Amino acid sequence: MLADKRILLIIGGGIAAFKALDLIRRLRERGANVTPVLTKAGGEFVTPLSVSALAGEKIYQDLFDLTAEAEMGHIELSRAADLIVVAPATADLLAKMAAGLANDLASTLLLATDKRVLAAPSMNVRMWDHPATQRNLAQLTADGVLFVGPGEGDMACGEYGPGRLAEPLDIVVAIDAALADGPLKDKHVLVTSGPTHEPIDPVRYIANRSSGAQGTAIARALAALGADVTFVTGPADVPPPMGVSAVKVQTAAQMLDAVMAAPQADAAIFAAAVADWHVANAGDNKIKKGGNGLPTLAFAENPDILATVAQMEAGRPDLVIGFAAETDDVIANATAKRKRKGCDWIVANDVSPSTGIMGGSENDVTLIMEDGSEDWPRMSKDAVAARLAAKLAEVLS
Ligand code: C5P
Repeated sequence: MLADKRILLIIGGGIAAFKALDLIRRLRERGANVTPVLTKAGGEFVTPLSVSALAGEKIYQDLFDLTAEAEMGHIELSRAADLIVVAPATADLLAKMAAGLANDLASTLLLATDKRVLAAPSMNVRMWDHPATQRNLAQLTADGVLFVGPGEGDMACGEYGPGRLAEPLDIVVAIDAALADGPLKDKHVLVTSGPTHEPIDPVRYIANRSSGAQGTAIARALAALGADVTFVTGPADVPPPMGVSAVKVQTAAQMLDAVMAAPQADAAIFAAAVADWHVANAGDNKIKKGGNGLPTLAFAENPDILATVAQMEAGRPDLVIGFAAETDDVIANATAKRKRKGCDWIVANDVSPSTGIMGGSENDVTLIMEDGSEDWPRMSKDAVAARLAAKLAEVLS
């Protein structure tokens, strides 16, 4: 599984950095190529010479190393890898990753990459338990970063508890799992997400309360199963997940263009809360108050992106899934909507304010198919996404 894979290994500055040397050896034994990156602090614990000698490759240390930039830019370096592994991932490195800082080579590579990142944390137990570190871990998990460890035990600092770097062989197993081909390998799935913004004039727009959380979770869950995901998102509250091709749009018309321009998809999930109308007489300049009384907005219908794709004569994805956010007669309305739009499945949910679903972290859905429906219990949007992705994988593979 590891043969001929390229691992970009970032070695942070912790007492456990010496274990990274063993990790390099284990990875190379299994046929992997290791491109080592040593942080400044990491260089206080292991020498660049021993790292590059074991890796059999040039070591990268400095963001402003002009020779390296001429040979291979930092963007390319971060993308040439199949997987980025951070070991040891110190509290400082995790904080930089969570905040999106890019002030040295390691953090810049981590911000610039389009590949999955596996972090093996290692730090003093109090630093691990600190609310700041736990907050960063939660953020990074939500961003799709994978973790192995830390283990529990005696620490170099004399304390006991969680914080020990996972053993190199455990990290190898986690690397293997991260690189494993999921059931959706070689499948292309298109996902729309978020609200759309329909301009009234250059400074004002009409929007809705969609956070984009459910669509983002779905894209992340599909990528975790190995799918190539094109993620077309309106202006959402949450950033696109890692490991997907994200296309950011504002309006329904732009969303339709992006969907039509996407590569042929095996499945498409339309989780976006697309505005039904746009302002037909949107101003080219900011509409001024006073003078001519109150402005009158004229509305025109937006294209129905889901229906357009579901009813395509040629190139229709094998599985087209829509969402039905309803406030009354949820199942009846959603069942009718599935037929009317021509999609295969529809995920129905009640978005009445009392449910707390719109903008919240949980969802309560019924999956409506041609030959029946499944009522899922209320669960987190991440869990809904995982279940939907698994069900889609059953049908496609
Ligand atoms: O008709 P309604 O907006 O309730 O339909 C919801 C479903 O249709 C969602 O899957 C949504 O993403 C999709 N839709 C769309 N384009 C529109 C309106 C809705 O793709 N203009």
